[in-house]
Amino acid sequence: MDQKKTYYITTPIYYPSGNMTIGHTYTTVAADTMTRFKKMQGYDTYFLTGTDEHGQKIEKKAAEAGVTPIQYVDKIVAETKDLWKLMNIEYDDFIRTTEDRHMKIVQKIFRQFYDQGDIYKAEYEGMYCTPCESFWTPTQLVDKDGQKVCPDCGRPCQPMKEESYFFRMSKYQDWMIDYIETHPEFIQPAKRANEMINNFLKPGLQDLCVSRTSVKWGIPVDFDPKHTVYVWIDALSNYITALGYGTDHDELFQKYWPADVHLVGKEIVRFHTIYWPIMLHALGLPLPKQVFGHGWLLFGADRMSKSKGNVVYPEPIVARYGVDALRYYLMREMPFGSDGNYTNESFLTRMNADLANDLGNLVSRAVAMIEKYFDGKVPAWTDAAVDEAVDNPLREHCAALPALAEEQMDKLQFSQALAEIWKVIGECNKYIDVTQPWVLGKDPEKKDRLGNVLYNLAECVRFVAVLIGPVMPHTPIRIFEQLGVTDDALKSWDSLASFGKLPAGTQVKKGEALFPRIDVKKELEILSGGDKKEEKAEAKQEKKEQKAEKKEKKKEEIPEGCIGFGDFEKVKMRVARVLECERVEKSEKLLKFRLSLGNEERTVLSGIAKFHNPEDLIGKKLVLLANLAPRKIMGIESQGMLLSAVAQNDDGTETLRLLTADPIMPDGAEIG
Ligand code: ME8
Ligand code: MG
Repeated sequence: MDQKKTYYITTPIYYPSGNMTIGHTYTTVAADTMTRFKKMQGYDTYFLTGTDEHGQKIEKKAAEAGVTPIQYVDKIVAETKDLWKLMNIEYDDFIRTTEDRHMKIVQKIFRQFYDQGDIYKAEYEGMYCTPCESFWTPTQLVDKDGQKVCPDCGRPCQPMKEESYFFRMSKYQDWMIDYIETHPEFIQPAKRANEMINNFLKPGLQDLCVSRTSVKWGIPVDFDPKHTVYVWIDALSNYITALGYGTDHDELFQKYWPADVHLVGKEIVRFHTIYWPIMLHALGLPLPKQVFGHGWLLFGADRMSKSKGNVVYPEPIVARYGVDALRYYLMREMPFGSDGNYTNESFLTRMNADLANDLGNLVSRAVAMIEKYFDGKVPAWTDAAVDEAVDNPLREHCAALPALAEEQMDKLQFSQALAEIWKVIGECNKYIDVTQPWVLGKDPEKKDRLGNVLYNLAECVRFVAVLIGPVMPHTPIRIFEQLGVTDDALKSWDSLASFGKLPAGTQVKKGEALFPRIDVKKELEILSGGDKKEEKAEAKQEKKEQKAEKKEKKKEEIPEGCIGFGDFEKVKMRVARVLECERVEKSEKLLKFRLSLGNEERTVLSGIAKFHNPEDLIGKKLVLLANLAPRKIMGIESQGMLLSAVAQNDDGTETLRLLTADPIMPDGAEIG
């Protein structure tokens, strides 16, 4: 029997000192995405997350809330699990450091360290940062407004003196430096390895205080029970206690350790790439293959954090826009490893541009055209109707996409992987503009050609649906429904081995728009806490209007002064990008434009020379009435009309401005 390759991935175990934020969600979604990707590729995956429940911070929070620590964390843990369910997170295990299975083994590990001389007892004097649960020597603290503060979070530290157990970190310093230097893949991104070596290891590693007598809410040192184990020793051990390390049932540990990657925020890379490796080495265990320290989601200039109180929670965003939109945003917005700002505006903009426009339109156009021209059956591929110059680049690009995405995913570059996928989506949309299926559809002799065009689009959509699955688990289900793909084999990574597996005759079925276009301005108001009542009233009004509109549509007769929809349909408007623009000699009014409609260029004259400088218009996306009969003006043929807005001034003159289209719209996009 061939053994599947294993893949073990972890998130930090989060402090349940308050509810999880969009920041915690970020790491957890990344781990879930990676797990789904590896699983799709046939790996035997194991995904661990959990909560880090001991320590002074939790003790304090519980006291403030007037409950016991365990009551306090039980509630938050339940809510955390609900959140992960909401976010479509499929972890294999959720470890809590208050569980027996964890506490027993931590005690055992601690005892082993003591027995083998890695831990010794001594008097400790230092500074403690409670929110970070970190000890600092006076030289490590930084100055802020005359105060000595924590170098990680900038908050004041408290002096601390007590009898404690210490871990001989210093003994492992040279080994650790050597390990990092000889394993360049161990700490990612690589710049963080330099930080560790230069800031912490080279200046000399201090022995670490690993027990406390003042903290009661912790794992007792079993041979000296007035001490509790330092929370980081407790917490880091979770990655192996969850697998049954040190018990009679350590099958999971045997199978999955060493971890393939620990995902962590950059502020805790130090614990994961110095203390944790040294602990493992002291236990005689192999080190995780990689620790990836990703960047922070910032809110304003600051890291969002529960202890700072500047926090965005995912629930309201998900309730309004869906899980997949948020998961997509988190994985797409910033490169994994870099910081980025969370703003409602960037979220809403991405939703519109990437999801509603690029992806949503592609799917709905492909499906609608197959319905319109082929009775909803994916057309057969006809060799005789291939236009190699147009078809081959798209087919080859799409066929190469799985490898391109995989290369980025293997580096945990989620954003880049999505960018690769969206390049193909963009190319498909361009392909529609170039091949003009609606023109082919008018000519019965071009039926085979049209069939090939739509086949290519449908197959590209299938590739895209499979590949976005790890990031957006729900969306492929909806796409496959519309595409009529029911066979699981056609939804698999393996089915992307070659282009063209989608069978002809597959019955498509138009469905709801995958992502509705949203009114960013309106949504921003709502997200920034617009009045709830107002929101409701608005929704009611909107419904009323929609109903009225529907009723209106039902009426067949066209009132005086109106045109019917059929009349409007005759008007063809397109987005036109200005390639060149110059004044027409001997004319005060006319500008001459050279315009790109994607697959064709037009010359158009427009009488707006008094209102626009020609240079300002180059590159602008304008609105062209594209099927106006051509006419000659001053000896030049004008092939269409640029739309502009006209205002009557008080003095009887006019002001004109050309209408522009959203710059993200491709050249030639139809307006309607
Ligand atoms: O540090 N941006 O727990 P914690 C990006 N219990 N990631 C963020 C984030 C943000 N704004 N906010 C939180 C602890 N995170 C320890 C870990 S592990 C053995 C013990 C994510 O509740 C990110 O992964 O403070 C960060 O490292 C982690 O949550 C911190 O969670
Ligand atoms: Mg933290």
